[in-house]
Amino acid sequence: MHPIQHQLHSDHHHMQLLLSCLSQEIDCFDFDSQRSPDMEIVVSALDYFHVYPDKWHHPAEDVIFKRLLDKKLDEKVILKKLLREHEKISLETVKINQLFQTAADDCIVSVTDLVNNAREFISLQRAHLNTENEFIYPLLSEIFDADEWKAIETEIKAEVKIHDDPLFNKISKKEYKHLYNYIIDSEKQK
Ligand SMILES: [Fe+2]
Ligand SMILES: [Fe+2]
Repeated sequence: MHPIQHQLHSDHHHMQLLLSCLSQEIDCFDFDSQRSPDMEIVVSALDYFHVYPDKWHHPAEDVIFKRLLDKKLDEKVILKKLLREHEKISLETVKINQLFQTAADDCIVSVTDLVNNAREFISLQRAHLNTENEFIYPLLSEIFDADEWKAIETEIKAEVKIHDDPLFNKISKKEYKHLYNYIIDSEKQK
């Protein structure tokens, strides 16, 4: 498997872990929850979606999906939908980050707004990931040979400012330390 393809698969796994953490914390806003939500976890997880998946993962997929559109495939409608969703997800990520940052800064935001927006964000991300996993990712090994992966890598390097995953590769912000430990602990409890 080419390193780019490997990275895309790891990203999906990591995003699924983060969405589970987010979902768990958002459920803590419910009136019958045993504890309060950990806002630091929520804010860090949302920040991560803004600084990595939206800056590397989705732009890298854009390069790959556009190449797939040039092939003879039945999945073109799905590919076009996924490309449009990358734009929508990017806008929604900015919006939800602003909303939770406002709440974290002690400004008044209604709990209903926080919970509804967060649940919509989680389900948008999950539906997008599931569609890619089910219909598109299985095609990647079939369609691209080693030479095309090399060309894809060159194109991504030229078009996307590649930076390492700031959470799972090398923790780049001290705020992510708590999030990282939370994810590791959640995985241990499974
Ligand atoms: Fe995507
Ligand atoms: Fe993806």
